[in-house]
Amino acid sequence: MTRKLFVGGNFKMNGDLEQLTKLVHQFNEADVDVESAEVVIAPPALYILPLKELARKGISVAAQNAHQLPAGAYTGEISLQQLKDIGLNWVILGHSERRTIFHESDELVAEKTAAALKANIQVIFCIGETLEEREGNKTEEVVTRQTEALAKVIGEDDWKHIVVAYEPVWAIGTGKVATPEVAQDTHKMIRNFLAKRVSQKVANDTRIIYGGSVAGKNAQELCNQPDIDGALVGGASLKPEFVDIIRAAE
Ligand code: G3P
Repeated sequence: MTRKLFVGGNFKMNGDLEQLTKLVHQFNEADVDVESAEVVIAPPALYILPLKELARKGISVAAQNAHQLPAGAYTGEISLQQLKDIGLNWVILGHSERRTIFHESDELVAEKTAAALKANIQVIFCIGETLEEREGNKTEEVVTRQTEALAKVIGEDDWKHIVVAYEPVWAIGTGKVATPEVAQDTHKMIRNFLAKRVSQKVANDTRIIYGGSVAGKNAQELCNQPDIDGALVGGASLKPEFVDIIRAAE
């Protein structure tokens, strides 16, 4: 099976209604082939509904996080069932900002991911090492540990609803993009882990996308690597440049 390229735009806690509406209008008007690349944008929770109404067919909307329980006294949280209720089919989970700033453990991210699949929501499952871990030669240990936590709680068949986003923490928002070779090596390592731990089929079919300072000028080279199936874009997804990244992935 050939893996359909995937380009995600993670707006994080940026933008207001006027700016984001304008941005999505620009994406809608751009001539991109959404048949050859799957495009998903993740606005702040407050703007999910209006932007979902606005985004043209072929551009899906994701949440940036969700709570693992269906309902209850969890002030400030949103459940996966509520996301599904408004017609959402994607959620980003385990972003390094959630893992570090909000102390989400490997186990919690895995639990949230399993809960999302149960709620029929597909997951952009983020993993990645810090600079200290990379310099300490711990990249493989970290990404396999994060992926293993998920492999423990989901079945082989569930992986078709997961896109793995490899986002080295040192490359996020720093302008220090991983070289295509460094990114490719880690993606291959993750794919090999899936082959060994889950199955060869899951390894072949699972999309592994790269995130960390992806821009119009480097997207093509990254996406040309055999094990890089697209990008998860932060800063550049807030600019018309996002369209160039989608075109590079097509
Ligand atoms: O989720 C996307 C991300 O963390 C990368 O952000 O700004 O480096 O593209 P950025």
